[in-house]
Amino acid sequence: MKVGRVTLSDRAAQGVYEDRSGPEIDTLVKRAFPKESIELVTRLLPDDQSRIESALIELVKIECCDLVITTGGTGPSKRDHTPEATLSVITKELPGFGELVRMESYKKVPTSILSRSTAGIREQTLIINLPGNPKAIGECLPLLIPAIKECLKHLAGED
Ligand code: MTE
Repeated sequence: MKVGRVTLSDRAAQGVYEDRSGPEIDTLVKRAFPKESIELVTRLLPDDQSRIESALIELVKIECCDLVITTGGTGPSKRDHTPEATLSVITKELPGFGELVRMESYKKVPTSILSRSTAGIREQTLIINLPGNPKAIGECLPLLIPAIKECLKHLAGED
């Protein structure tokens, strides 16, 4: 299974701080699919909408990823563009991913409603946004695994 992982952060891309969210996604994805051989394709980009869109399209079309998970850029700040980039490249939105993340995370972190994360399909690839805080990855990604597995089956035509 091929998984694209995209970290969006101006400061991490400039080397101001280390990307800790991306590696956290890698660990949790491998743990969630213990029987699969996971090939990871990783990107670390600044919060530039057109570069995010190009990276997502490349991970779908050239890399043929089954799943793409982004981290960061989902908030309300001026430089947060990940949901807009995602919405502009998907053909079917799956709003339930963002809804579940906000609903469940809210029980622990009231600020979780600041994330505008969404998800959707481009060609045969499921694209999911997660917030940029490394702790948020551990709080959010495990909740989504059952729906990710089911969606991948549908996209592979197994259902
Ligand atoms: N969700 C969880 N589970 N844990 C968190 O710490 N942080 C929130 C929110 N969602 C958070 C969370 C905050 S403070 C913001 S601003 C938004 O995610 C957007 O974060 P991003 O711009 O890094 O994607």
